[in-house]
Amino acid sequence: MNVAIIGTGYVGLVSGAGFAEFGHRVVCVDKDESKIMCVHNGDLPIYEPGLEEIVKRNRQAGRLQFTTSLEEAIPGSQVVFIAVGTPESRRGDGYADLTYVYEAAREIASFLGNYTVIVVKSTVPVGTARQVARIVREVNPGAEFDVASNPEFLREGDAVFDFLNPDRVVIGVESEKARRILLDLYRPLQKKEIPILVTGVETAELIKYASNAFLATKISFINEIANLCEEVGADVQDVARGMGLDQRIGLKFLQPGPGYGGSCFPKDTKALLRIAQESGVACRIVEAVVEVNAAQRARMVRKIRQALGGSEAGKVVAVLGLTFKPDTDDMREAPSLTIIPALVERGALVRAHDPQGMKEARRLLPSEVLFCDDPYEACSEADAVVLMTEWNEYKNIDLSRLKRLVRKPVFVDLRNVFSPGDMEKAGFDYFSVGRKPVYGFSSPACS
Ligand code: UDX
Repeated sequence: MNVAIIGTGYVGLVSGAGFAEFGHRVVCVDKDESKIMCVHNGDLPIYEPGLEEIVKRNRQAGRLQFTTSLEEAIPGSQVVFIAVGTPESRRGDGYADLTYVYEAAREIASFLGNYTVIVVKSTVPVGTARQVARIVREVNPGAEFDVASNPEFLREGDAVFDFLNPDRVVIGVESEKARRILLDLYRPLQKKEIPILVTGVETAELIKYASNAFLATKISFINEIANLCEEVGADVQDVARGMGLDQRIGLKFLQPGPGYGGSCFPKDTKALLRIAQESGVACRIVEAVVEVNAAQRARMVRKIRQALGGSEAGKVVAVLGLTFKPDTDDMREAPSLTIIPALVERGALVRAHDPQGMKEARRLLPSEVLFCDDPYEACSEADAVVLMTEWNEYKNIDLSRLKRLVRKPVFVDLRNVFSPGDMEKAGFDYFSVGRKPVYGFSSPACS
């Protein structure tokens, strides 16, 4: 099948390469010439494990092409995906900015030839696919097309794996013809017995938001339980396991921490609230999820202050990990972006390290932050070490070397990577999330 993908960002590129891997002929289109040049020169505009290999293999096989020209890509394609960005609106009011989606719809419309299925893959508010159909009809009244919705559920860092081995595929269509074509497109997954759910377009659009909001709910829920654990002397890791072994609850997404970040959960929970508000429906649980996430970050600042003995002023705080999760250079909505400025504002001297995120972090964090090329250098003379993102590099850190470097062996583990017993043995005062602190260096009375 001939497929065009509009937008070679994260989702477009992974999906384009993935469909080519299924055996389809794919053309990826982007307006940004530098991105297309980059691919033509054998580089990729983003890093994603395994992506370079499948892009290379499918380009060599002639199944994957890149262009800036819609005129080249659209007329011969049976399926055209819109995979452009839908950032939070610049007004900061939680609405998704649909400018790029509608612009793509208008441009696609003018090049349509034979019957085409236009599929919205970008995460968009319910009703957007219908708007796209309206725009296409307006621009090209004679065009033969259907509009469909096919949301993506890719995790950064695992996107290629997730595309080729999803838990499910969701297809929202309004016509039998579009349904048959899209099922054909995903035939290789049907052979692997991966469930393909066919629904109406509004339903498919809502599944995406409901899924992300539910995952965010699990995180905010366990963060509140972690806070409760701290007050009553329980251990949240055991509580999460005890809950999660009930298959109705499940073990995943019950890891407490500084709150969720990234390009999806913060944006999609807020957008869902806007959709609900406009429809006159209360979404009180999701409202609470968003509030709890913000409060969790503030709580982490208080936790660090407590570990520093009650004040940040003049204290050296080493921060390990800046990105919103490990194995990415993505800083979007990372907890570090709220926690570090709060520490700096109260007079802490922050020394930071991240394996991938420092370039972007330099741009986004206060100028007072000192960036170090090495985690041990960041910890030198520290009054407290804060583990903010659970990179493997930090999981394997040499604790005795660290202890010799710091001014005071105080460790705040916002990801519960270490065991309190081990940290006590290693001679650290150790604070984590939802577990009792241990005092391997000082006695609690002195701290
Ligand atoms: C997420 C969804 O998983 C994916 O399906 C969707 O399409 C896009 O958003 P991603 O943003 O790449 O993917 O990251 P994910 O691994 O889901 O983590 C999101 C955030 O939640 C991170 O900040 C992570 O640290 C946090 N998190 C995750 C927790 O705090 N606890 C958990 O148990 C899981």
